[in-house]
Amino acid sequence: MGQVVSEQPYSALRSRDIFSAWVIDSLPTFGSSVVDGSLTASAFAGLANQALADLPFADDNDPDAARRLIVELGIIGSSVACYSHRENLALARRDPGHSLEALRVGATRTPFRAYFSDLIGRSGTGHPNRDAYASLIRWNAPEMSAYRGVSRLCTVPSVFDDGRIRTYTAEIGETLIIELFKRCETLELAANEVLQPIWAGGTSTMGRDELAERFATARLMLAGVRRLFLNFHLGDERGALSVDHFVDVFRQYAIHWDHDDVPPSGPQDIQFILRDLMTDIQLPSFKRHVERIHAGLLAEERQVVTDAAVRPSLPRVLLDEAGLSTVDLATMSDSELASALRRCPALGECYLYLELNARLSAAHLMVAKKYLYKPNRQRDAAGAAVPAPVPNDKGITELTESALDVLNRARRDHVMTAIGRWRTAEVAALCGATVQRDLSMDEALALFAPGESSSSLSTSSLASSGGTW
Ligand code: HEM
Repeated sequence: MGQVVSEQPYSALRSRDIFSAWVIDSLPTFGSSVVDGSLTASAFAGLANQALADLPFADDNDPDAARRLIVELGIIGSSVACYSHRENLALARRDPGHSLEALRVGATRTPFRAYFSDLIGRSGTGHPNRDAYASLIRWNAPEMSAYRGVSRLCTVPSVFDDGRIRTYTAEIGETLIIELFKRCETLELAANEVLQPIWAGGTSTMGRDELAERFATARLMLAGVRRLFLNFHLGDERGALSVDHFVDVFRQYAIHWDHDDVPPSGPQDIQFILRDLMTDIQLPSFKRHVERIHAGLLAEERQVVTDAAVRPSLPRVLLDEAGLSTVDLATMSDSELASALRRCPALGECYLYLELNARLSAAHLMVAKKYLYKPNRQRDAAGAAVPAPVPNDKGITELTESALDVLNRARRDHVMTAIGRWRTAEVAALCGATVQRDLSMDEALALFAPGESSSSLSTSSLASSGGTW
């Protein structure tokens, strides 16, 4: 996290601190009051206007301060718009940004959208002209690192150093879901980075041990993400996110500020997208899916995704190296394929990774169904569905349940499925890989701190193969 720059006027520092304290300590209480009906949308907007009034000129913010304010103003903007949309759905559909026009910032009473736009310029990130996944999740939640044993694999910074998470209401479930997103992104980044050299250059410069270690680490990270998904609904000692709060409150902040903008949502986690591109998701509509979320990304993220989309995928790199095609994999006899896996262990290692990726996708699908699609169907069937600012019959990026089913199926029907003629442990035995076992929640959380060697978190292939080969 960047240091506060000392040349900034003292008054600017002080007014920002007071404002930050309001956003983190008072705004959620007022938000909860709007949700329970004891405060009106216009009263909330009035309180927000008072808090915004003391902010310094946008130009008095260095890039770090600008990023912090983008997080905070993003939460205010989506709160004000959401509460106003709840009171007047027709106006919201006609003119989604209407309520933001009444917000003013600083002594010069700069219009909120103009100030926000200046902050984006100051931040130097190409952040969208509204809140976004990057600010709501990555910049907001505390810094996190992923570890394998004592080795730190990656760190995802925060723009704050107080270890806290800014939310819309005082409901703990909001903290938990923002934290979940950042935890998943951190482990996904670790997996993507550890496979990056193989994706970029194949395995010719790498010994067998390094190859095995890289894939085992990547699979361990995905097993961690999967466990975080599976256990999320259980919550922890702080509480849990209820389905009703997710449907009726949390996702309702993902409203439009402009007709064609892209509100924050899971599909903008670029580590997920990069993994889909790296693993070669076989879906003609995927390109369009990625283009749709482009407007919700930072400039650097857009570039990373664009570059990744034109690279040969990881399985293709490895198949080329082995002089094989997917058709070869499917048409080879068992003994031919077995000897190919012994000769080119990277193929089996990669297959095990793709299989785990499919299981992770299924775990996410389960969470999405549990928290949105299933309750929405139940409400429909009971005649209890009510119009909402963010419609509950599809995702924020307008993905339907069947679209998520299709994405999930595409991850399961990956390009190396032909290797699936054998059980996982048998494939692992053929290529000398380890099998990644399911992790407990404690083991998944332990990936965020340096610890003992992680070798006990996977199973030796030879021990579990039964020695068929
Ligand atoms: C309680 C937690 C979660 C729930 C209820 C949930 C729900 C959903 C829903 C309803 C959609 C459709 C969204 C749309 O149209 O914009 C979706 C899509 C998506 N979400 Fe989540 N999500 C959760 C957590 C996450 C996390 C932590 C990640 C990142 C690791 C993530 C990544 C994605 C991706 C990549 C998509 C696009 C669909 C796909 O590629 O399968 N989600 N999620």
